Amino acid sequence: MPALTSIRTSEGKLEIVNQLLLPHTTEFIEIKTIEDAFDAIKSMKIRGAPAIASLAALAVADHLSRGLESTPAPEWLGSVDALKQHVEPILSYLFTARPTAVNLGAATRRLSKVLQASVDAGKDPRAVAQDLVAEAKQIDAEDVGRNKQMSKWGGDWLVERVKSGGGSGTELNVMTVCNTGSLATSGYGTALGLITYLHETGKLQRAFYTQSTPYHQGSRLTAFELQSLNIPSTMLCDSMVGSLFQHHKIHAIAVGADRIARNGDTANKIGTYNAAVLAARHNIPFIVVAPVSTVDLDIADGNSIPIEQRPAIEACLVRGALYPTTLDANGVKQQATVMVTPEGLDGVYNPSFDVTPASLITAIVTEKGVAVKKEGEDVFDLTPVV
Ligand code: MRU
Repeated sequence: MPALTSIRTSEGKLEIVNQLLLPHTTEFIEIKTIEDAFDAIKSMKIRGAPAIASLAALAVADHLSRGLESTPAPEWLGSVDALKQHVEPILSYLFTARPTAVNLGAATRRLSKVLQASVDAGKDPRAVAQDLVAEAKQIDAEDVGRNKQMSKWGGDWLVERVKSGGGSGTELNVMTVCNTGSLATSGYGTALGLITYLHETGKLQRAFYTQSTPYHQGSRLTAFELQSLNIPSTMLCDSMVGSLFQHHKIHAIAVGADRIARNGDTANKIGTYNAAVLAARHNIPFIVVAPVSTVDLDIADGNSIPIEQRPAIEACLVRGALYPTTLDANGVKQQATVMVTPEGLDGVYNPSFDVTPASLITAIVTEKGVAVKKEGEDVFDLTPVV
């Protein structure tokens, strides 16, 4: 199995794995321009809140590095004003590629701040560009370490919680939604990181994951990651969550997040809210695992989270390998996109995310620690974990 990664940078090239072709074909695509990065994010060739923020940052770094290395130097390196006028529209443009995940905006805002700070410090345009390159690389690099930290916080918290309820804490069954692993981040993952941590420490019995239609992030990507990591796991259709909770002992649901409001309301992959309602009904802890950059303190609650609506056609199509397997002349599995609905449907409802109210969430975990609600309260105080 190839090493799992969403982004790779080597020999001066910025590349992403085309997630639309996974798990059957591992194809790397070079990101040569800012437009390439925008298109890759919008078309979901790369997806997952931290991964799209990393790509946006690295695309800016790559673009600026090319300018710094080229002779003659581009006009936008001619003065600090020219550099600002060049970089600011790029940041605003990348920010609009997908609206729900706040990490993308957090990354572009962070770069804007560094731009302004370096300009205010009186640096020359080349030094300002170098500061931006360093900051952009840092945005990507810091992701893996914080993922490991939050996975440990969340995993240890869950083990203690199960133990305090009389369980052994060593044979945990944890369900997740969507894909929150290496492919959605710069490595290790958030909710899938928690599951991986439990497995690595001998506490996990089995991971369960929903298919996460219509994009099948669960059945394509989480399945691929869990297989690669040799973690015992079971896939279920999105409609089977209630049945799973009725018939199996599930100790927790762990999900990622695209945006967490100040009160703890959390936007994540469509279907997360359904799982949370069912978890509450079955008294199963529901844990959100996400970096601090996913918390949007500027919004009071989930009502202000913009929810991306994906094109109708995407909910009518399924892409995958031909079955039985058919190889092309190069020995590559042939893939096809098929339509599973009649053509020209009157209406299609296709939001990419839903919002789970804080009242249904048991714990929110970041790299800074675990937040739980005060007894009798329906909302979180996230101050200690941001
Ligand atoms: O539409 P996607 O695949 O980008 O949605 C991804 C999710 O909803 C993830 O759960 C979230 O971004 C967290 S990834 C660590």
